[in-house]
Amino acid sequence: MRKIVIAGNWKMHKNLDEVYSFCKAIKEPLMNKKFDRVLPILAPSFAFLSILKDELQDTALQVAAQDVSCHNDGAFTGEVSANMLASLGLNYSIVGHSECRNHHNDSNEVVREKLLKLMDNGIKPILCIGESLAQRDKGETGQVIMEQLEGCLRDVTLYTASDLMIAYEPIWAIGTGRTASGEQAQEVHRLIRKWLADTYKDQLADELCILYGGSVKPSNLAGLLSMPDIDGGLIGGASLDANKYLKMIDIALEHSK
Ligand code: PGA
Repeated sequence: MRKIVIAGNWKMHKNLDEVYSFCKAIKEPLMNKKFDRVLPILAPSFAFLSILKDELQDTALQVAAQDVSCHNDGAFTGEVSANMLASLGLNYSIVGHSECRNHHNDSNEVVREKLLKLMDNGIKPILCIGESLAQRDKGETGQVIMEQLEGCLRDVTLYTASDLMIAYEPIWAIGTGRTASGEQAQEVHRLIRKWLADTYKDQLADELCILYGGSVKPSNLAGLLSMPDIDGGLIGGASLDANKYLKMIDIALEHSK
């Protein structure tokens, strides 16, 4: 049975005080919940990874990075290596987010390099893929998704389904308030799962978590989770609010019963 993942992506939001007060607000509620089939994740900026990890160490929450360098180490000012993330005890990192692809020109090949560095260091990548509005309007969604999967996962060995998560994030739905409908997202998630079955094994495809991202919030999460191939959310804006984050965890817990 696949887990339901509620992964918050804080992007470049929250300063130190705001990080501390968010942790204070969610710590006790998290400790009072039973997380058999739900996995809560938060991805703060690099600056606060350790703080979040320390503050929430007694909870089920996993702390994730938002990106990683494609280099091992060396003269790469401003970059953070997979080895550094692993040395903090992190188990997850987002990779290939459309904002990194757009702002830093991360190609599928670069995303693949980053993903391999994470895996080499025992960190599970949350691989983001998704089409632009222009591509969707031209009917190219399926083709773009296949190209991203093939480019980012070329010759990447997956031993078990827990080696990777995939997040389908249509670019036109990110931060726009415009969510893909459950049906629109499901259509792409089904395609991704089929590609995984064709490329790897049926069992791996069945067990791998595929998240949806793009204006997920408490009011639309249940509808998305009711789709057979949607296993959670990668959530930006709504994850910045402790009450909304907890509410989405409650929705996931309810759905997991
Ligand atoms: P959003 O961001 O929920 O604010 O649309 C999602 C993401 O970019 O991961």
